[in-house]
Amino acid sequence: MKPWPYPRWIAHRGAGLLAPENTLAAFRLGAAYGYRMFECDARLSADGKVFLLHDDTLARTTSGHGMAGDLTWTDLAALDAGGWHSPAYSGEPLPALADLARWCLAAGHSLNIEIKPGPGMQAQTGEAVAREAARLWAGQPVAPLLSSFSAEALASARQTAAQLPRALLLDALAQDWLATAKALECVAVVFHWPLCNAKVVRQVKDAGMRCLGYTVNETGPAQGLIALGIDGLITDRVDLFSPD
Ligand code: G3P
Ligand code: MG
Repeated sequence: MKPWPYPRWIAHRGAGLLAPENTLAAFRLGAAYGYRMFECDARLSADGKVFLLHDDTLARTTSGHGMAGDLTWTDLAALDAGGWHSPAYSGEPLPALADLARWCLAAGHSLNIEIKPGPGMQAQTGEAVAREAARLWAGQPVAPLLSSFSAEALASARQTAAQLPRALLLDALAQDWLATAKALECVAVVFHWPLCNAKVVRQVKDAGMRCLGYTVNETGPAQGLIALGIDGLITDRVDLFSPD
């Protein structure tokens, strides 16, 4: 099995629920809790900028409305992505992936970039995120881990920047999940954590890959997953789990 350069504990969307997800304020708060690796959601603006946002639409986590992919980066960058969470974060902007990369690299933090394609944008988003990540992390000792629920996006990322490590995200166990991860030459599979059991972990490891779980927010399940030999836990509860 290839060396695994990443910490076991990964802060989900920055600091999960404690700060507005996928903003620099959230990543800074996660780091203040001792986290050294972060998960973020990356998608494309109408003019091809790679930026951070979980949903296809703007309403839940920004002052905007409609489809995020319909706006240019200039318009997206003017939105408030913090006020929805709490007044203390009012005015917090949506970050470009480049903003988060600069902060991660300066602080020596690792990143898991989840590729989040808008509708019908699987291949374009996989290509753009991989190209931008390869540019931003060029020459760095630890590359970002690219993950996606979309096999098409991962295939596109592989074609664009095969050197960047990939992980297949799974929220259910389709019959061909292992074959898909192997065919994409993934280094890891990231499971919705209740899918993990001894058999699944063994299958992943026997295939030479690592096994990660999301989103692990309670101590009982975390202990169970660690006992199973899980390599990474993605959590919102940066206030509950001390990263080792
Ligand atoms: O990457 C793990 C997790 O973030 C996947 O689900 O919906 O929280 O992006 P979601
Ligand atoms: Mg995500």
